[in-house]
Formats: sequence, structure tokens, C-alpha cells
Amino acid sequence: QRLVLAVDGPSGSGKSSVSRRVARVLGLGVLDTGAMYRAVTCAALDRGLDLADADAVAALARAAQLEQSLDPERESVVIDGTDVTTAIREPRVSAAVSAVATNLAVREELVARQRAVAASGGVVIEGRDITTVVAPDAPVRILLTADEGARVARRARELHGTADAQALAATQDLVVLRDARDSTVAAFTTAAEGVVEIDTSALGFDEVVQAVLDVVVA
Ligand code: ADP
Ligand code: CDP
Repeated sequence: QRLVLAVDGPSGSGKSSVSRRVARVLGLGVLDTGAMYRAVTCAALDRGLDLADADAVAALARAAQLEQSLDPERESVVIDGTDVTTAIREPRVSAAVSAVATNLAVREELVARQRAVAASGGVVIEGRDITTVVAPDAPVRILLTADEGARVARRARELHGTADAQALAATQDLVVLRDARDSTVAAFTTAAEGVVEIDTSALGFDEVVQAVLDVVVA
């Protein structure tokens, strides 16, 4: 099964959860590229590296042994023998990841690894630069978008179990600031030519999954 689906979107657009479900339905693997940037961030923090030391962080990324499950039923990320599956979701990592993701030498290394996965095929690859840089030739390329309010509300529900005013206020900066920092790297949020954009703001999860599957069949 050689099919490759490239899926991009900003934080809270639904790319991870939708990609996982689509992979399951189609019997494909799934590669969460954000988890790779998060794993390197985790390792750098654990080693006490200064994230502003671009050379040191890049050296870590190049030398890192990264084992990531592509099985949509089983999320697992291990870096240099340390299981970071849970740790990569911690707020300290979310707060620091943009500093690692804007390191161009780190991107070069991780993009090369992602392209190797794309070359084997049979996978949904999701991130920020998959449709444009990692797999611009993928037969199916999708950009999921959603307005800021929807994305903040989804994250608030995920992190706090509610989207009340307090939860929204606590989540707003997390989403908006990280997107602003990420956007210095590339035009993450505009669809390149040939990329199908799906605005998920007013769609439920199942509707988004169906919309993606419709693109695959078309
Ligand atoms: P991303 O990977 O783009 O940051 P996620 O897939 O992690 O986004 O989704 C963020 C949260 O929003 C998750 O809790 C997910 O279950 C939920 N979610 C995803 N798609 C939708 C949708 N269409 N409507 C409502 N909630 C959604
Ligand atoms: O789930 P969310 O969209 O919030 O984040 P993620 O997909 O786990 O990605 C975490 C971070 O990794 C992003 O904020 C980007 O800084 C970076 N990233 C990237 O630069 N390029 C990618 N292809 C994927 C993620």
C-alpha cells in the first residue's frame, strides 16, 4: 500500500485526531511530525541544553535515535531509549517546542527522516510543512483550518474538560502565541497550489474525517 496522505494545519485544527482516524479507516500508518519536534525538545530540556544554542540542539537532533510507532492504534515515541510518549504533551514542552522547530538545522534533519517515511508509503503524515516541504508530491494533500475561536475552544476542552470563560482564557495564549512563533518559519497556514483546504470551524469530528476520505476517493 503506497498511498501517502499529507495533512497540515495549525494547532487545534484537528490534524492529529483526524489523521489517526483516517489512517485507521484506510489501513495506513500515521506519522505525527509534531511529536518528533516535541521529542527533540523533551530530550534537550532533560539534558539541560540552552534551546537558543542552535548548534547544540541540532547536534542532539542529528544524533538522536528516534523510535516512533506508526500504528494508529498505538501511540509511542522513544528518544535515545527514553519513552517520552506522555512527556511530549506536557505544557513545558509545548511552551518550548517552537524554539526547537525554528532551528533550521533541526528541521533539515527531521524533514529528511520524514521524507524517508513518506518514501516507504502507506502512511498519513501530519504536521505544518508536509504538503509543502516534506511530501509536496503526495497524491493527496490537505490543509485543515479552523478559526481561532474554534481552535482555542477545542484545546480548552482537551486540557480542562470544559470551554468555559476561565478555560478559554487559560488556553488562548497557548494556542495563539505558539502559532505566532511557528509562523516565523514558513507560511504554515496558507494552502499551496493543489492542496485541498477544509475549514473545520463548523464541522464535527466525523464530518471532517468524511471530508478527508472524500478527497482521497475523488
Ligand atoms: P491538532 O493536532 O491540529 O492540534 P487535534 O487533532 O489534537 O488538533 O485536535 C484538538 C482537539 O479538538 C482534540 O481534543 C480533538 O478531539 C478535538 N477535535 C478535533 N476535530 C474536531 C472537530 N471537528 N470538532 C470538535 N472538536 C474536534
Ligand atoms: O498539536 P499541535 O498542533 O498543537 O502541535 P504539534 O502538531 O504536536 O506540533 C508541535 C510543534 O512542532 C508546532 O508548534 C511546531 O512548532 C512544530 N512542528 C513543525 O515545526 N513542523 C511540523 N511539521 C510539525 C510540527
